[in-house]
Amino acid sequence: MKKLVLSSLIACLSVAPAVAEDLTPRVDASRAAVKDFAGNLGGELKAALKKGGPLEAIKVCNTKAMGITRVHSEKNGWQVGRTSLKPRNSANAPDDWERSVLEQFEIRKAAGEDPKKMEHYEVVMQNGKQLFRYMKAIPTAERPCLACHGSRIKPAIAETLDKRYPQDRARGYKAGDIRGAFTITQTM
Ligand code: HEC
Repeated sequence: MKKLVLSSLIACLSVAPAVAEDLTPRVDASRAAVKDFAGNLGGELKAALKKGGPLEAIKVCNTKAMGITRVHSEKNGWQVGRTSLKPRNSANAPDDWERSVLEQFEIRKAAGEDPKKMEHYEVVMQNGKQLFRYMKAIPTAERPCLACHGSRIKPAIAETLDKRYPQDRARGYKAGDIRGAFTITQTM
């Protein structure tokens, strides 16, 4: 048993890239990009809710969210997006690294940490390339999130979601749950 732990530790160490660079500027830039991206998405959601309620807002999320995501990726020259352990849009499904970070976020939350401030970053080696990866948790608020992600979704809203997202897994959340995370990948 001990031997197994030790050998896997050595295996981890041997693939971990040497980080010579001070990561502070990348972390700061990632935080700023998330703020900008979140503000953009939140602004669209708020405006759509005001204009036509949740049904209109679902349409806006459905047609605009991925476009906004692309704009923020291009603007920064990185991959910028959202992910979740229970995605609504399967294009937001996590890769292995993202899944393990999301699972760590759940463990940190269970240990009492506030999801509002939760983030994680790391330099990883993928396909022979050093990447800087950053994630920030997205907490679920009662309003407006639960209208479309909660456990008592109004029938008309549920029906619209069923139509647009037949594989939807993003329901049944409670206020304070981690809905998902912003995720950024920068090449180094
Ligand atoms: C009007 C309904 C509606 C409301 C309100 C709403 N969402 Fe969503 N949410 C959606 C839809 C639709 C998508 C899928 C967007 C797409 O196709 O890219 C989505 C996707 C997401 C995603 C991306 C991951 C995934 O599941 O695909 C996150 C994270 C998310 N919502 C968080 C929130 C949070 C946090 C709130 C509250 C601030 C919220 N949502 C409020 C409808 C809504």
